[in-house]
Amino acid sequence: DKSGHKHFMAKEIAEQPQVIAEALNAYLPAGGDRVVLPEGSPDFSKIDRLVMVACGTAFYACLTAKYWFEQIARLPVEVDIASEFRYREPPVAPRTLALFVSQSGETADTLAALRYCTDKADSLLSVVNVPESSIARESGMALPIHAGVEVGVASTKAFTCQLTVLFMLALKAAADRGALSPEQVADHVAALRGLPSALNAALDEGPAIRKAAQSLSEARDVLFLGRGLMYPLALEGALKLKEISYIHAEAYASGELKHGPIALIDKHMPVVVMAPRDALFDKSVSNMQEVLARKGKVVLISDEAGIAEAGDGIWAAIRMPHVQPALTPILYAVPAQLLAYHTAVAKGTDVDQPRNLAKSVTVE
Ligand code: F6R
Repeated sequence: DKSGHKHFMAKEIAEQPQVIAEALNAYLPAGGDRVVLPEGSPDFSKIDRLVMVACGTAFYACLTAKYWFEQIARLPVEVDIASEFRYREPPVAPRTLALFVSQSGETADTLAALRYCTDKADSLLSVVNVPESSIARESGMALPIHAGVEVGVASTKAFTCQLTVLFMLALKAAADRGALSPEQVADHVAALRGLPSALNAALDEGPAIRKAAQSLSEARDVLFLGRGLMYPLALEGALKLKEISYIHAEAYASGELKHGPIALIDKHMPVVVMAPRDALFDKSVSNMQEVLARKGKVVLISDEAGIAEAGDGIWAAIRMPHVQPALTPILYAVPAQLLAYHTAVAKGTDVDQPRNLAKSVTVE
């Protein structure tokens, strides 16, 4: 049942304010100002490092969470693609928590990586959408993301729910390790509670995004740029676009632009720049200027202040509400998804069942 939407993907994008509210309710007790995890969850004061392993979109959720665990909880983090991790057979240091993220909980490579860690890591944890899945069962301890059934092959609401749960886990780690005071945790919790309404405001940008997508649908290649927390999201935006619109898309950390990809920029190259007005904004803007100077077509996703400061010459601007900087990946996922969605619709591809892809990759 698509509840009046043209595609499951559109329905699942639109559901995000509601499912994220459910994920928040599951780990933030009503009226409280801290994160409470189920019995048996790891005590991060006994952990010295975190290893996160996943595939595809779930891998990008892990890459985002690395910034959170490092910055908020001061915990060293390694993130790896499951198919690389399992065959590299890396040493696992003492006091390591191994964390596996999977929507389906059945991804073959992620499950194999989990099995590899079973007798090596101090503790195992999974973040899954399907609580009865193999990964949930074999990790012993699973945190459900409460996204509900995801039908669209391209993951949308599962990604933002993964991010939401991983952010709460980072807050719990920060509290356990004394990296944040209870007051600082309470501030983050308050910001989290504002997410569903910010997501609704992001969804209201649909028409502006559809307009930008109309032009993107004529491109052969699209570049995505982001810094800091926006870098993994740029990777996710590029993955979404190539999966469902079949347009070649690549993402780079903005600072890498002049180390190679700038050679691609000309008037035919749309460049999606994800840059909220945060501490790294000025750096992102100077990268954007380098693109504009070579006649690249910039689609800027930012907030009111960012768009005002970015100045002239931008091809399309997509306006997000202002949220606490740490939470921008969850919010900016919405325009990334909608950009891919509307581009695919404009091209007439099969959005919910893109060619060559399966929802659950149970063979390697
Ligand atoms: C992309 C997508 C895939 C999955 C990947 C992992 O839209 O859906 O990249 O994220 O196959 O799947 P799970 O999360 O089920 O382990």
